[in-house]
Amino acid sequence: MSGERTMPVAVLIGMMGAGKTRVGKEVAHIMNLPFADADVCIEREVGMSIPEFFEREGEPEFRKVEADLIADMLEDFDGIFSLGGGAPMTPSTRDALADYISRGGRVVYLDADPEEAMERANRGGGRPMLNGDADARWRKLYAERDPVFRKVANVRVRTQGLTPQMAARKVMDMI
Ligand code: S3P
Repeated sequence: MSGERTMPVAVLIGMMGAGKTRVGKEVAHIMNLPFADADVCIEREVGMSIPEFFEREGEPEFRKVEADLIADMLEDFDGIFSLGGGAPMTPSTRDALADYISRGGRVVYLDADPEEAMERANRGGGRPMLNGDADARWRKLYAERDPVFRKVANVRVRTQGLTPQMAARKVMDMI
């Protein structure tokens, strides 16, 4: 990465359980950059947890809040930013990410081993998109989203078998 940084750095996208937050924090720490997580920002903005917000307002409203927040952040956040797994499925967010790339940003698809990511996502809990048969839901979402993540990202980092620290190093080498 070039020494002269003016704004955009990197956004992490990928499935629930891929380790976007964990790895993103690590990358930010090593690169001495600020870190932000879209879900945490949303929870702060709406004043409730994501599951609570889904329960009260529903997914379409969540997607609106999410897309607006991401658009604002991409305008002026100078660091490492991890998005919720479903965020790139919103067309306006895809446009905002394309614009971010055109300004020199990296959109990193954190491509984890599906079985590992699914297991982590289920274990973590607090994910309304996985209510019910969590494995079946995760797999269905993965089938829909993986092709979109590949299209939207300008960097793809495969993390199978890597620790978060190793994955972070790999991300750094590629952005
Ligand atoms: C979602 C993923 C979650 C969170 C919300 C919806 C999704 O973020 O934004 O529960 O649609 O995949 P993580 O990917 O950080 O779990």
